[in-house]
Amino acid sequence: MTSAKKTMLSAIQPSNRLTIGNYLGALKNWVKLQHDYDCIFFSVNLHAITVRQDPAELKEQTYRAIATYLAAGINADEATLFIQSQVPEHAELAWVLNCFTYMGELGRMTQYKDKSAKQGQNIPAGLFSYPTLMAADILLYRTHLVPVGEDQKQHIELTRDIAIRMNNLFGKDLFQIPEVYIPPVGARIMSLQAPTSKMSKSDTDVNASVYLNDTDDQIRKKVKRAVTDSGTEIAYDEEKPGVRNLLNIQSALTGKPIPELVAAYAGKQYGHLKVDTAELVVEAVGPIRNRTDELMKDHGYLEKILAKGAERARTRARTQLKILYDRIGLVNPNG
Ligand code: TYM
Repeated sequence: MTSAKKTMLSAIQPSNRLTIGNYLGALKNWVKLQHDYDCIFFSVNLHAITVRQDPAELKEQTYRAIATYLAAGINADEATLFIQSQVPEHAELAWVLNCFTYMGELGRMTQYKDKSAKQGQNIPAGLFSYPTLMAADILLYRTHLVPVGEDQKQHIELTRDIAIRMNNLFGKDLFQIPEVYIPPVGARIMSLQAPTSKMSKSDTDVNASVYLNDTDDQIRKKVKRAVTDSGTEIAYDEEKPGVRNLLNIQSALTGKPIPELVAAYAGKQYGHLKVDTAELVVEAVGPIRNRTDELMKDHGYLEKILAKGAERARTRARTQLKILYDRIGLVNPNG
């Protein structure tokens, strides 16, 4: 039974369409590791509202994220799948964790610094305390492993710090201390238009990212227009971030080591690298896109999976919250 297995948990923000960065940095690894763990995957819509969202669009993307998990190969019979706002215990635990997290710690988070700088004035408090909600997501389920891309590592380190702090205050076994899993390749896919910046769902330049629902044609165009570097030689070089990015994408998709890929391009042009990369991306994204579209037409099926997942998650989350409330002196809902 799954209960003998350790718990793996991860999530994606439905703040826009998912990208191949989300796929290679996160989702692909969830699929790969899922059979060895008791899995919990969800769509973090409470995180998404830390920046302004269109309500109808947010709802659509929230379901689409779950449909994409399934389309990419997550097994609906084994994993617990739900939408974050369906399990109110996440927001409940986040409040408690806010009371044990320091302003200095939150202010040091790179993602907060980047996002708040873009926001200018009127920075929502939710953007600042975002990592405590993420810590709550993880600590509610006694999670052992959190597979994410490089950019989330700092948030998981903070989660560990908060958990260790509270275990020291209220008992060593209060929270499970989670480990992070960062894939050896694909952990940081870069923008196709500015390859020194991370590929991001929220990039206003649609050519910077391949979305998991782009058509084959759009994918080919975007990869072929990818910004490469001066020179002609295909090398995995610090000074060639554009070429490096395409090689990383290929390596993450095929599992082939970078030196093997580079050797095969000896004497070839950037154009060859782009065409090959485009075809590999089309091959990977096409079936996910088509299956996601089919699933999105079957809302009844998605709702059934989500209702079952939310119920399972709530039972588990409530058990952890009861232990926490007893330890810190909060009266539980049932006394
Ligand atoms: P989000 O929605 O920004 O990204 C989802 C996942 O995709 C990874 N990722 C990337 N990997 C490689 N290259 C990229 N360019 C790239 N862009 C994104 C992210 O590292 C992440 O794994 N705070 C999280 C969501 C979250 C979460 C959690 C994750 C909320 N609660 C609990 C794990 C556990 C986020 O905003 O991810």
